[in-house]
Amino acid sequence: MSASIRFLMCSPDHYDVDYVINPWMEGNIHKSSRDRAVEQWQRLFHLLKERVIVDLVTPQKGVPDMVFTANAGLVLGDNVVLSRFYHKERQGEEPFFKQWFEQQGYTVHELPQDLPFEGAGDALLDREGRWLWAGYGFRSELDSHPYLAKWLDIEVLSLRLMDERFYHLDTCFCPLTDGYLLYYPPAFDAYSNRLIEMRVAPEKRIAVGEADAVNFACNAVNVDRTVVMNQASNDLKRRLAEAGFEVLETPLTEFLKAGGAAKCLTLRVTEPIQPEVHAAAAVESRTIRLEGHLIDSGVMNRTLDAVVEGGGSFQILNFQLGVQRQSTSVAEVKVTAPSHDVMEKIMSQLIDIGAVRLPQELSDAQLEPIVQAGVAPDDFYVTTIYPTEVRVNSQWLRVQNQRMDGAIAISQTSNGTVARCKLLRDLEIGEDVVVGIDGIRTVRKPELREQRNTQQEFSFMGAGVSSERRVELVVEQIAWELRKIRDQGGKVVVVAGPVVIHTGGGNHLSQLIREGYVQALLGGNAIAVHDIEQSLMGTSLGMDMKRGVSVRGGHRHHLKAINLIRRCGSIGHAVEQGALTSGIFYECIQHRVPFSLAGSIRDDGPLPDTKMDLIEAQADYARLIEGADLILMLSSMLHSIGTGNMTPAGVKMVCVDINPAVVTKLSDRGSVESVGVVTDVGLFLSLLVQQLSQLTSRYQLTQTV
Ligand SMILES: NC(=O)c1ccc[n+]([C@@H]2O[C@H](COP(=O)([O-])OP(=O)(O)OC[C@H]3O[C@@H](n4cnc5c(N)ncnc54)[C@H](O)[C@@H]3O)[C@@H](O)[C@H]2O)c1
Repeated sequence: MSASIRFLMCSPDHYDVDYVINPWMEGNIHKSSRDRAVEQWQRLFHLLKERVIVDLVTPQKGVPDMVFTANAGLVLGDNVVLSRFYHKERQGEEPFFKQWFEQQGYTVHELPQDLPFEGAGDALLDREGRWLWAGYGFRSELDSHPYLAKWLDIEVLSLRLMDERFYHLDTCFCPLTDGYLLYYPPAFDAYSNRLIEMRVAPEKRIAVGEADAVNFACNAVNVDRTVVMNQASNDLKRRLAEAGFEVLETPLTEFLKAGGAAKCLTLRVTEPIQPEVHAAAAVESRTIRLEGHLIDSGVMNRTLDAVVEGGGSFQILNFQLGVQRQSTSVAEVKVTAPSHDVMEKIMSQLIDIGAVRLPQELSDAQLEPIVQAGVAPDDFYVTTIYPTEVRVNSQWLRVQNQRMDGAIAISQTSNGTVARCKLLRDLEIGEDVVVGIDGIRTVRKPELREQRNTQQEFSFMGAGVSSERRVELVVEQIAWELRKIRDQGGKVVVVAGPVVIHTGGGNHLSQLIREGYVQALLGGNAIAVHDIEQSLMGTSLGMDMKRGVSVRGGHRHHLKAINLIRRCGSIGHAVEQGALTSGIFYECIQHRVPFSLAGSIRDDGPLPDTKMDLIEAQADYARLIEGADLILMLSSMLHSIGTGNMTPAGVKMVCVDINPAVVTKLSDRGSVESVGVVTDVGLFLSLLVQQLSQLTSRYQLTQTV
C-alpha cells in the first residue's frame, strides 16, 4: 500500500437514479438496485484500500450523485478548485464537499457563480504532473480553464468533448503512469485530437474502441501500474499488459446507469506539485458587438452556433432588445476559444455574420508583405462576398472589388491608402496583405422580418417542394424585377448552359435579349454551339427541336455549326456575313449585348469566340459582372458557380436548375438577395416571357386609361 496516495469516496447510502441529466440515466430512473450498488461500491472500496488510503465524506440525503466524488473539485497540492455544478440537481452537493475540504485544511478556490466546472470529472492531471488536461463542451465552461491555470499554477490544455455519452472528460480519457494515455478519440473534436497527439507520443497512446468506451473502460482508477475499471475487452487487457499495466476488473453496472464508474466514484486528493511547472493557458477571449434584427433574422442564433460549433464558448454580457418591430437590438458577447488558431477561425465566421469588436478592443489590421508573386502569407484573411472594411492607421477603408476567395491588398496610391480584393495569382511582390482577423469588419444591412419572409418563400421553392403555382409566383416577382431594372437603365447578366436550348428555351432567351432585358451573357462553348446549330439546322445535338425526334445524321450538325463559325472567323463575323440570322447569339450581336464564352475540357471545336485561357475567361466574366443589379443563372452548374464566386453581396441572384442541390449551393450564400427556383429551365423561360408580356399589356392599358 502506498501511504502517500489518498482517495476520497462517498458510500452509496442515498444513491439512486432520481433524475435525468445525461443519456445513461435515460430510462433508468429508480431502476438501480441499492443492494447491488452497495455491494459493487464495497468491492471497489476494498480493492483501493489495499493500495491507497481511502478517506470518506458523509453521504447526504437528497443529493444521490454525491457518491461520484470525482466531481467534488480538483485538487493539486494544498489547493482545491471547488466544483460549480452545471445542473441544479447536483448543486446541492457543493456545500458538503466545501466543508470536507476546509476541514482537511485545503485552500478552497471558488469560481464565479455562473461559471460551471465539474472538478476532476473534467480536469485530469498528466500522471507525471507536467500539465492539466481540462474538458469542456457539456458540463464545464472553457472560461473556467484560465482560473485553473492561475490558482493551481499549471499549464492547462483544453479538450472539447463532442459525444454526449462522454459528457465528462474522465468518461473517455484517463492519463496513466509513465505518460501513457487510455482514451476514446471519437469523443473529441479534431483540434483536441491533434493536441493530444502533439503531447502524447504514439507508443504511449492506448486508444479504445466504442465497445470498451461504452463499458467505461476509460473511467478507470490508476495507481502506479494498476488500472481498476468496470470491464475491459481481452484486446484492451492485452494492450495494457504490453504497456506494463495490470487490469483489475470490478463490476460497477449499477453506477453505469447514472453514467459513472470507477473513476467517477473516487477523487484523488493527493496530487504532487512539480516545482518547475507553472501557469499557462492557451484559452483566449474576445468581446464582440452585434447590432440589427438579431432575433428576427436569426443572427443571434447563427452567432452562438458559430461559436459553439467552432469549438469555443460564449457568455452574453449585455443584450438590449429592440422592442418595436422596426427597432434593432444590440448584443455584447464574450467569445472564448481554447487557442489562438481556434479563435481566429471562429472570429472570421463572426466577422462574416457582421460582428464587430468593441471600440476599446479595436486594433489596426495586421499587414504582411508579399515576398513571392502570386503567393499570400499563410495566415492571410480570405475574403467573402460581403462589403468589407479594414482598419489601417486607425482609419476604416472600404475594400474595393469585393469578391469571395481573395486576399485584401493594401497599397499606397496618389489618392492615399487603398484596400483592394485581389486573387492570389494577382498579388505582387512588395504589396501588403491583411493577415489574421484584427481590424476587419463586414458591413451588413439589417435583415428585416419582411425581407426574411420573402427569402423563406424562395428557399421553399429551392427545397424542391414547389407547386406549379408557386413557381408562377416566383417568376412573377422576377419578371417584375427585370422590368424595373430595364426601365431604370440597370444591368442584368444572364449565365446560361446548353440545356436552355435542349428544353426549347432558346427562343424565349432570344426574345429577352431583343427586348432589352439582358445586358451581358455568360456561358461556355456549348450554349453557343447548340444555339447556332438550332438556328442553322433546327436541331440541338442532332435532335429536331420542333418534332422532338433525332434527325438522320444529325450528330454531324453540331460540328457543321462549329465549322461554319470557324470559317467566318467569329460569331460576330458570321452575323455580319449573313451566315447566322437568328438565335440567342445573333440577337446579342444585333443588340450589342456583350457575351463571354469560357472554355472547358468538354468543348468540341471550340468556337473561335470561346476563351480557352481560363484566367482570361475569368477576368472577362468579372468585367461583365461589374455593376450588375441581377444575375439570372440558367441551368449551368459550372458557369453559375464560377460566376457566384466572383459576385459580391448586394447583387440579386436568381438560380434556375432542375437539381435542388445546385440551387441550394448557389442560393445558400447567407445573403437575402439569392433566390433559387427548382424547375425545368425551358418552362421557366416560357413563363417569364409570358409574365413580361402581361406586365407590358397591363402597362399599356394603364397608359390608355
Ligand atoms: N459540345 C460541347 O462543346 C459541349 C457540350 C456540353 C457541355 N460543354 C461544356 O461543358 C461545360 C459544362 O456544361 P454545362 O454547364 O451544360 O453542364 P453542368 O453540368 O455544369 O450544368 C448543367 C446543369 O443543368 C441542369 N439541368 C439539366 N436539365 C435541366 C432542365 N431541364 N432544367 C433546368 N436545369 C437542368 C443540371 O442539373 C446541371 O446543374 C461547359 O463549359 C460547356 O460549355 C461543351
